Amino acid sequence: MMFRGLSTKLLNICIASFCKVRLLEKAEAIIIDGERLGVIPDVVTYNTLVSAYSRYVSLDAAYSVIHRMKEAGISPDVITYNSLIAGSTRDCLLSQSLDLFEEMLQAGIHPDVWSYNILMNCFFKLGKPDEANRVFQDILLSNLASHPATFNIMINGLCKNEYIDNALMLFRNLQRHGFVPQLVTYNILINGLCKARRLRQARTMLRELGESDLEPNAITYTTVMKCCFRSKQYDKGLDIMSEMKSKGYTFDSFAYCTVVAALVKTGRIEEANACMEQVMSNGIELDLAAYNTLLNMYCREGKFEAAYKLLDEIEKGGLLCDKYTHTIIIDGLCKAGNITGAQHHLHYMKMMGFHENLVALNCMIDGLCKAGHIDRAMELYKSMETKDSVTYTSLVHNLCRVGRFRCASKLMMKCLKDGKKILRATKRAVVAGLHSSGYTDEAKKLQWKIQVARILR
Ligand SMILES: *[C@@H]1O[C@H](CO)[C@@H](O)[C@H](O)[C@H]1NC(C)=O
Repeated sequence: MMFRGLSTKLLNICIASFCKVRLLEKAEAIIIDGERLGVIPDVVTYNTLVSAYSRYVSLDAAYSVIHRMKEAGISPDVITYNSLIAGSTRDCLLSQSLDLFEEMLQAGIHPDVWSYNILMNCFFKLGKPDEANRVFQDILLSNLASHPATFNIMINGLCKNEYIDNALMLFRNLQRHGFVPQLVTYNILINGLCKARRLRQARTMLRELGESDLEPNAITYTTVMKCCFRSKQYDKGLDIMSEMKSKGYTFDSFAYCTVVAALVKTGRIEEANACMEQVMSNGIELDLAAYNTLLNMYCREGKFEAAYKLLDEIEKGGLLCDKYTHTIIIDGLCKAGNITGAQHHLHYMKMMGFHENLVALNCMIDGLCKAGHIDRAMELYKSMETKDSVTYTSLVHNLCRVGRFRCASKLMMKCLKDGKKILRATKRAVVAGLHSSGYTDEAKKLQWKIQVARILR
């Protein structure tokens, strides 16, 4: 019998490992093998499955495990139902959560503090703070042992639902009643205050945290730093960064991006470059999304030299630029009026194998038009395999602007034939232009085609 108990424990460990890496079929296979050897799954085994199915497959799949439990003569317990309720909360299915709660009560299973926590979280997620508060009051009135998680969920939910003052009030109230805030509590409040753009209070909270027995962590610092940058208090943000660094916290790539972006925005390119070098020398690997964000920042600020330097670094680091990288550069150069540079980059992009980067090509077309090179834009358009409504709209609009209504009309007919949408104002501009320049027949023909297209659509 003892041997059997031990085997079930072993079985459960195996099941948990497989579930953790989402190999649910393997987990099921082990149960079958185990049963063949006389190892009987217990409630823990099934609960592990319920949790995994609700997380990785579906709520229905998770729920069907309950039937299997009953067939095996095992009663679901509070953990089973908590997993199910958490699953339906993840999918924001309030009525399902409530039904499951009800079902649990009917089965004579007493909810524990986690059941209530999950329910509370569910209400908050659905923007129903009043209901969440009612659950909270229930917990306080019941003789369930309270858990710090309950308070954190409550404070977090209030913050997320923009009841930051209530969150603060609750926090102070709890403190008066002996609640010792955890680091996560402070982080929740600081984040809430930052989101509400109450920077001064956020920094006060940070100070309070510093004076407690707790130490702010990287999340805390990054939150406040980002908040400072967002409210354009760059120097304060950089102060926080130094403080964070002096305490030996390493930055993640996200924090670095925030800092570099702030430096670029305030025109401190030298410092931004130095910061980037630090990233490299610290061996922090930025991913392409981070690089693209930075690149975008450099381009928007017109710092193309720095942008190209960054591009070099990306490629030297062995990352492959994606179509967004190229689009950012081409768009940036076009917006800065450097058509030669943009066209140069377009060639480079094609050389790198991105022939059909529609967004980049559209940027180029728009750039060429704006710079008065409408014929070059038309040539580029003709060389493109696919076009979308942006391509057409941009060209038609610009052809109208320079009074080439017949050309615009031909293009629009192609667009209609292609089944692409075009703005009604643009259509009207072409028709009006044709009329005013005496091409009445052409105008009628176009109007006719527009109508046909509308009917066919
Ligand atoms: C245009 O951009 C290129 C980079 O592609 C640069 O080498 C060139 O100096 C820029 N030209 C002007 C006029 O800014």
